[in-house]
Amino acid sequence: MPETQAPEHKLQPELQPEPQPKPHQSPMHELNHPPEQPLYQQVGRKLYQQVIRHANPEQKLPSLRLVAEQFDISLSSAQSAYQYLIDQGLVVVRPRSGYYLAGSPSSAKGNQRLQPQIPPANPAAERVKVSDLVIRMLSMGREHPLINLGTAVPEPALLPLEALAKIQRQISRKPQWAYGGYSPSGGEPLLQQALSQHLSHQGVQCAPDDLLITNGCTEALRIALTECTKPGDVVAIESPTYFTILQQLESLGLKALEIPTSPETGIDLDHLATMMSAIKVNACVVNPVGHNPLGFVMQEQQKTDLIELCYRHGTRLIEDVICLDLAYADRPVRSLRSMDPYGVVSQCGSFSKSMSPSLRVGWLLPAGDTASATARKFQNNVSVSTPCQLSVAYMLEQGLYQRSVRKIASQHKLRVHQTREWVLRYFPEGTRVSLPEAGFVLWVELPEPFMAMPLHQKALEKGVMFLPGDVFSPTSDLYSRYLRINCCACPEEEVLEGIKRIGRCF
Ligand SMILES: Cc1ncc(COP(=O)(O)O)c(C=O)c1O
Repeated sequence: MPETQAPEHKLQPELQPEPQPKPHQSPMHELNHPPEQPLYQQVGRKLYQQVIRHANPEQKLPSLRLVAEQFDISLSSAQSAYQYLIDQGLVVVRPRSGYYLAGSPSSAKGNQRLQPQIPPANPAAERVKVSDLVIRMLSMGREHPLINLGTAVPEPALLPLEALAKIQRQISRKPQWAYGGYSPSGGEPLLQQALSQHLSHQGVQCAPDDLLITNGCTEALRIALTECTKPGDVVAIESPTYFTILQQLESLGLKALEIPTSPETGIDLDHLATMMSAIKVNACVVNPVGHNPLGFVMQEQQKTDLIELCYRHGTRLIEDVICLDLAYADRPVRSLRSMDPYGVVSQCGSFSKSMSPSLRVGWLLPAGDTASATARKFQNNVSVSTPCQLSVAYMLEQGLYQRSVRKIASQHKLRVHQTREWVLRYFPEGTRVSLPEAGFVLWVELPEPFMAMPLHQKALEKGVMFLPGDVFSPTSDLYSRYLRINCCACPEEEVLEGIKRIGRCF
């Protein structure tokens, strides 16, 4: 029976509150913390935490009658509890249908609004200077307790940490292997094997030792860039782009050529082609799935055309696929590397968003010679921590990663859609917000005359942080009315509180 047609006299199995109340005990027994909270708020919170947040986005939520029965309250209290959740932006009511989770894809309000606009990019390739600003902005998140919607790290509840802890217990039973020496610079063979197997399911065929295991995606990007450029060379980048790419260009003495990039379709290929005909572009770096900060997934044709274009111009194409496994779509999403018939694509990835950022395990699958990339890795820092590599290898081998990652992606999707609605509700009229297809960040364009930097300062004073658009481009002021928000940085209630506080700064 479709979930939405379930009879209303009984909670469906997946909607049972967890943990179950003990026999003869009403869930009311749990409804006394904190005592000063009105009953409808206590019920609303419990209902949300134990039932609603686990619901399927398209699923009808328990009826008023059912909530009243389950919580042993009156119908009007149940209605107030739902109204409280509606006011919080967590639930929506559909006329003549019932209550639903806010942020479900068909909760149309947010989707109808416009996505952020694309400002004209700087036509010249220029040296980059963003590092100081990035460091300054990120360090603000550490100075005082605050709701940090700035850094792109998901809250622990959205990572498979229990499974990881179990794996690490297995690893610690083999201390000589895990802690007794250096891993080879190319990577632990067990991880190379498990990863090549994992990538083969995504259409990427490679031998285990074609893969270089790196300290996260950041090191993979750096080695990929060093392998095909020398200081002064030009690298085409999406605009806006993830700031660590800019930091790498800056420290390697490379020039950034910003290519306008749409939050819906990705990099402007006509613009890129024109620029490539005019100047030598040595490399092009893209983030084709769950772009940071825009959130799009590139269309298949766009990917093919980009590969073709880079091949024709002798340009190395570097893809950052950190969110590939986190795409919302049920169908598999293809990486550029899996579609590359010419050998121009270097793939950089990591498990930082889907397993754990602190493991620092990533990979580079170079378009060129893996031996040369491995020599650079050796010069950088010898190799990646063995226990961390083994953790990822076992997570992959035992299928624990694969099992958790689809669930995580659907939670991201829900959180992102919810947060989008909150931003549209609490930010000024005229605000535009991206509609991501993977990942967990939103790109927001403020209407005139609002600017992100002064807003950032005011928000900090109210205990909230986001990242101003300025860190996503080497061109100053290009994104001064834009900002990035992490929708999964902390529990929903805190994200909502953060958005409300930012909303009060306008
Ligand atoms: C697009 C993108 N690439 C790379 C990274 C860095 O990855 P890692 O932590 O694996 O070095 C991030 C982290 O936010 C990212 O968003």
